[in-house]
Amino acid sequence: MKALFLLATALFWLAVAAFGWFDRPPAAAPAVQPPSAAPSAASARPERRYTLAEVARHATPADCWMAIDGGVYDFSAYLPQHPSDPALIEPWCGREASEAYRTKTRGRPHSQRATAMMAGYRMGTLD
Ligand code: HEM
Repeated sequence: MKALFLLATALFWLAVAAFGWFDRPPAAAPAVQPPSAAPSAASARPERRYTLAEVARHATPADCWMAIDGGVYDFSAYLPQHPSDPALIEPWCGREASEAYRTKTRGRPHSQRATAMMAGYRMGTLD
């Protein structure tokens, strides 16, 4: 009887070892997925596009759009704060103003601070 018990026990542990029950991962172990790259706001929502004709319809100091380096900006709110004589910046409302911005029409570039400010007025891209 004791021999039978020992044999049964040995067979049991042999079966356990043979089937590797201790090493199996849990049946429902979820596969680990690498976190998918979250789409950036820019790629999720494409910028609005404007034609130069549309920009040209906003050519007054109170309603002043400009196209600069492929971007379209509404500077209406900024114009009263611009530090130059208004007569220097106002004629660029409604126009492609990349060169004017780059040179201040005087061969001098704007500061990096000025360029950083532009982002706050950006509406979209120029077609
Ligand atoms: C596109 C037409 C523009 C023209 C012709 C123009 C011209 C000028 C001029 C003549 C000055 C003062 C003199 C000088 O600092 O040399 C000036 C200064 C300045 N402008 Fe403009 N500007 C234009 C657009 C803008 C825009 C779109 C911004 C920003 C949203 C801006 C921001 C500034 C700032 C912050 C200054 C102070 C000096 C500096 O930081 O460079 N300007 N600009």
